[in-house]
Amino acid sequence: MSAHPDPSSLKFTTTSCREKKRRGEKITCLTAYDYAFARLFDECGIDLLLAGDSLGMVAAGEESTLPVTMEQMELAVRAVRRGARRALVIADMPFGSYQISTERALANAVRLVKAGAEAVKLEGGAGRAALVRRLTAEEIPVVGHIGLTPQALHRMGGYRVQGQSETAAAGLLRDAHALEEAGAFALVLEGMPREVAARITAELAIPTIGIGAGPDCDGQVLVMHDLLGLTFHAPPKFVRRYADLGAAARQAVDAFRQDVEAGAFPGDRESYHLPATAPAKRG
Ligand code: KIV
Repeated sequence: MSAHPDPSSLKFTTTSCREKKRRGEKITCLTAYDYAFARLFDECGIDLLLAGDSLGMVAAGEESTLPVTMEQMELAVRAVRRGARRALVIADMPFGSYQISTERALANAVRLVKAGAEAVKLEGGAGRAALVRRLTAEEIPVVGHIGLTPQALHRMGGYRVQGQSETAAAGLLRDAHALEEAGAFALVLEGMPREVAARITAELAIPTIGIGAGPDCDGQVLVMHDLLGLTFHAPPKFVRRYADLGAAARQAVDAFRQDVEAGAFPGDRESYHLPATAPAKRG
């Protein structure tokens, strides 16, 4: 495994996000839910690690992100934070943790920060502006998330690309401006036409991080299981699969099973021995 130096001087922050946009450099973001992958991605130089509520689907096998709890998110955030030296750790606020009241939302955001999050992400447009303003006023950096927002699955009638009519696109543009004005330091744009994401990106001073929103966003995020081929379904159109770790894992596990069944694992070299000089104790 490569070294894990202490690049504290290079720590990626909310300011780094803005600076990257100003310099025209792309921001990289991956989801992570545990220590090992968070550390790997951090060592690879990924800027943002998102402890996403997608963990409900890819790690817990749920049908949607809706059942995800604060406790699940806190566990994930703690592990990801331990793996991240340089990357900025963002925690998703799970469904139900910010809808009931501003005070409950603030209390839950504080819990995620205490678990190690350096920022929180929440879904929704202009209707969330007041909440974003409040969290930001309480020193909690916020990432907005508009377009295809998975927690709005039932309202959207499925995971559907958003902003496809002129009216809907104009609505997304208004949402983006409202969230920026409220103090969000970045915006995830998910599942929308490339042209709409490009226009939002051009109009905002804060960076946009796209997923299924085309190449003109200031950065890109993917769910790690999609990128690494650890899913059990055909990936959506916007995913590029960079590795097939699923196939590699199956091969390794098959070989282990066969070796154990054949008595070929462990071998003598994988066994402990009594010290050569010390005679074996007799019972
Ligand atoms: O939870 C998640 O993985 C996300 C990304 C899709 C942006 O919110």
